[in-house]
Amino acid sequence: MDIFEKVHSFTAARDAMAAGLYPYFIVLDGHEGAEVRHRGRDLVMCGSNNYLGLTTDPRVKAASRAAIDEFGTSCTGSRFLNGNLELHETLERELAEFCGRQDALVFSTGYQANLGAVSGLAGRGDVVLIDRAAHASAIDAAALSGAKVRTFRHDDPESLRRQLRACPPDAGKLVVVDGVYSMEGDICSLPDLLSVCHEHGARLILDDAHGLGVLADGRGTESHFGLADRVDLLTVTFSKSLASVGGAVIGDADVIHYLRHHARSLIFSASMSPANTAAALAALRVLKEEPWRVDHVHENATYVRDGLRRMGVDVGASSTPILPVPTKDLLDTFGVWKSLLGKGVYVNPVVPPAASYRLRMSFMATHTVDHLDRVLSAFESEFASRPAAVLQA
Ligand SMILES: Cc1ncc(COP(=O)(O)O)c(C=O)c1O
Repeated sequence: MDIFEKVHSFTAARDAMAAGLYPYFIVLDGHEGAEVRHRGRDLVMCGSNNYLGLTTDPRVKAASRAAIDEFGTSCTGSRFLNGNLELHETLERELAEFCGRQDALVFSTGYQANLGAVSGLAGRGDVVLIDRAAHASAIDAAALSGAKVRTFRHDDPESLRRQLRACPPDAGKLVVVDGVYSMEGDICSLPDLLSVCHEHGARLILDDAHGLGVLADGRGTESHFGLADRVDLLTVTFSKSLASVGGAVIGDADVIHYLRHHARSLIFSASMSPANTAAALAALRVLKEEPWRVDHVHENATYVRDGLRRMGVDVGASSTPILPVPTKDLLDTFGVWKSLLGKGVYVNPVVPPAASYRLRMSFMATHTVDHLDRVLSAFESEFASRPAAVLQA
């Protein structure tokens, strides 16, 4: 059997292109954060995770430029051998301090942070238990670990309890959940999940990619629940609130020390670039100095959420800057996406297996009321032209 056979039988994307409905890999010719330029038109960006609006902040850009001047464009190697800068370690110290933890370990992406944490800690004979809606990186990490993988119903502590009861008594048990779910925008039931883990001697990793910079005063999901330092290990990404690319594992010094020497995605991959590291550090400092940004992103999301609800649009259980709007099927998802793009609003079309059909929007601290009104009026005209209430669940 030719392993490339699947390449020739994969036609779905070309069919969508031929129909003029292909919504991925959209080329942007300008990016100002809250607005982007596509084919000469300015669009309101509602598909980015730039929650605090810091990707174009002059302080963050200046720090990134200065790091290139000082250290060049790349470390050209792993932190383990030749790619470790004082900048990486400063970011680790400040991040750990911000999250109220002993230590942190910086990886080149959040995806790699999850790979390193899960597959560094779990292995054959262990069980990794994952929320069914957890991010793909947690699922890939569990598969890579060689441990037995079990999933439990989304944010259902009782389902987790049943799965933990079914684990062999002598197996190491690692539970992985997201703090804020990237497709629904709901916040995990951390207190209940933690107590189920404690009942069964399981350790919990909380992927707070969408909680850092967004919940509590930016300190994330643990703080939101007043549970600082209660989760065994946090993973975060810098590609959202911290306006960069990279990620980290944050927790007790002993665990971080162990991962420093066992996380293959850290050891066998080049370190975060100087520019990215400096940008994340500068963004973290801005977040500490300007907590109003956290309030602002919620106010903006609430403005749109309330406006959409008034129109009868179902925006699910989200209480964060992530707003999902359900759609019917593939054609409907791509069709509404294209129509909104034509009306000047950039959203993300999501189809299975990523999640059920929907448009995913996320808001920023730097969206203005004018941006938000443009989004609402695009939905209003979209909704008005759909008497069958396609956008209602
Ligand atoms: C919940 C979650 N975890 C991890 C990641 C991976 O982060 P990164 O983009 O830094 O690889 C993402 C990014 O989409 C995410 O949403």
